[in-house]
Amino acid sequence: MSDRYRDLSPTTLLSPVPVVLVSCGTAEKPNALAVAWAGTVCSHPPMVSVSIRPSRYSYGLIRESGEFVVNLPSAAFAKAVDYCGVRSGRDGDKLAACGLRVRPMPGLNGAPAVEGMPAQLGCQVRQVIPLGSHELFLAEIVSVRVREDLFAGDGSLCLDRADLLCYSHGVYQRAGDALGFFGWSVARPDVLARRMAELRSR
Ligand SMILES: Cc1cc2nc3c(=O)[nH]c(=O)nc-3n(C[C@H](O)[C@H](O)[C@H](O)COP(=O)(O)O)c2cc1C
Repeated sequence: MSDRYRDLSPTTLLSPVPVVLVSCGTAEKPNALAVAWAGTVCSHPPMVSVSIRPSRYSYGLIRESGEFVVNLPSAAFAKAVDYCGVRSGRDGDKLAACGLRVRPMPGLNGAPAVEGMPAQLGCQVRQVIPLGSHELFLAEIVSVRVREDLFAGDGSLCLDRADLLCYSHGVYQRAGDALGFFGWSVARPDVLARRMAELRSR
């Protein structure tokens, strides 16, 4: 490890970031695009942001319907995510080309979710803010579906088992091993030992 730094021109280097598959359109005519400029922006109400260039085919679909689904992909879907990020829905059904199917998302009027994804967030657009190259869609999460196999016997959600995909400066990566849990740096020793044992056993 070097203690020297190199100065770069200002750029979008926040890393790693989640890369998600944003589905839109309708169940009969669905579309999806890869989005890496996505984030959680509010807890109550639960909200996410996605930044989309107006030139994307999906941009018009989302503007028109005011809704979309954020699908959280596992590493198994990495190639499909990439394909949906380099081809446009203007030229054909990308989801079908990847062998992916959609189903209606509860709480939304038409935007479908992509089957098989570990988690799906149904989103309704609340605000659109032009930023420059991208427009920021601020959306409320109105429904959430999580794949059944990601729940432990006691009903707790184990997203760390989902093998979620992330993205770092042009490279797709797995989210990796669980290292700790929220508050572990200050947990009582008995709580730390019990929770770490639970984490490692799942
Ligand atoms: C890994 C990855 C991340 C991407 N992130 C974004 C993004 O955050 N916003 C965006 O507008 N386009 C993003 N893109 C590009 C779109 O996904 C791409 O232009 C796609 O073909 C648009 O599809 P559409 O025309 O069917 O909407 C990304 C592409 C890749 C491969």
